[in-house]
Amino acid sequence: MKIIRTTSAMADWSRCLHREGVTIGFVPTMGALHEGHRALIRAARLACDAVVVSIFVNPTQFGPSEDLTKYPRQLRLDQALCRREGVDVIFAPTVETMYPAGAQTVVTVPRIACRWEGHARPHHFQGVATVVTKLLSLVQPDKTWFGQKDYQQAALVQQLVKDLNLPGHPIVHPTVRESDGLALSSRNIYLSRSERQAAPVLYRALQAGAGAIRAGERNGPRIQRHMARVAAAEPLASVDYLAVCDPTTLDPLSTLHRRAVLLGALRIGKVRLLDNLLISVRRTT
Ligand code: PAF
Repeated sequence: MKIIRTTSAMADWSRCLHREGVTIGFVPTMGALHEGHRALIRAARLACDAVVVSIFVNPTQFGPSEDLTKYPRQLRLDQALCRREGVDVIFAPTVETMYPAGAQTVVTVPRIACRWEGHARPHHFQGVATVVTKLLSLVQPDKTWFGQKDYQQAALVQQLVKDLNLPGHPIVHPTVRESDGLALSSRNIYLSRSERQAAPVLYRALQAGAGAIRAGERNGPRIQRHMARVAAAEPLASVDYLAVCDPTTLDPLSTLHRRAVLLGALRIGKVRLLDNLLISVRRTT
């Protein structure tokens, strides 16, 4: 397994492989790899000849009051996981390499970025869109894997790749969960024992919404209230949003027709948890 630190070496490596007809699968990450990332790497391994994992804690997607300096960094452990999974290249550039002095171009996907997570974290998605554009341009992957846990990010990347004709056809991989339903996230390690016990309330709230839909409810605000009631029963949780949305535009739905995504974000202690469920709506007769 190779560790590449510079943008030019990354681009050269990909160019050589493409010349030989090798397909490249890409898993962009900020490190602190867990079972969710492992699932993405395994999917990439199965689908492509070579696999690149990027490990870069991207400063431009963190707000001034967010946890950039405290974000878990564990390159050695991450390397060991990647080696075990047969990754070919870890791309781990420095901040100065990715954003040299004088860099000023940013990428925005305004409509998807403005709501939900974008509301709570105003510059977050501009940072994500900019770094993903740079990573895809450097790695030139055939396919790229994103976790469904960050649903809005995945929707934004799909739009970005389509709008800018970027390489690396995005594939969204189902969320990997703990046995009690908590979606895996690098930030879960910050939860205290009692907060960890409270955390699955987000999944339970989303499931309550899904249950209401299965029982025939098609009114968006009423489904939203079902979810809110479940979340409110957990005193450690403070809800940021629970929403019933169109899966592509992420606009809130007043009435459900075919498909919907239930989006949720809540805060437990200092940790912000995100989760979602994609729902196919069956016709009621
Ligand atoms: O999901 C993440 O880990 C990051 O947002 C990403 C896509 C690697 C961009 O920094």
